[in-house]
Amino acid sequence: MPVPELSGPSRRTVLCGLAAALLAPGALISACGPSAPTGAGKPGTGAPPAPGGALAALADIPVGKGAVVTGPNGPLLLVRASETEVKAFNAACPHAGTPVDAPVNGVVTCSNHGSQFDAKTGAKRKGPAETGLTPVPVKVADGQVLAA
Ligand code: FES
Repeated sequence: MPVPELSGPSRRTVLCGLAAALLAPGALISACGPSAPTGAGKPGTGAPPAPGGALAALADIPVGKGAVVTGPNGPLLLVRASETEVKAFNAACPHAGTPVDAPVNGVVTCSNHGSQFDAKTGAKRKGPAETGLTPVPVKVADGQVLAA
């Protein structure tokens, strides 16, 4: 007799959530995002980058997409707004601190309780979060996104 498929979170989502709960904050965040970059700041590559250090290669984040990377002070959501511009936000959801997911179709979602944010501005679109994402300064130089 075939076993019916269950609906709900994917096995990847559950494993990523479990790993995030058991390991140091930020250790697996990029690996669990839908568009994890391959450059610096990638989890498992050592200590978080120092201020001014590389967070990700620009080429790893297509225009209109984003990624959650390890920043100097915790997880950062990077959103590539144009060919040359990257915006960054503290990836900790303002509701209860769960790292948000990389954006999909211009919307950043927190999988914990469903808050949603505008990927370009970080503004709250849907609660329970009461505020938007906190902007974090970054700069782009030599094809790299750098912690400011
Ligand atoms: S922690 Fe993000 S919506 Fe609750």
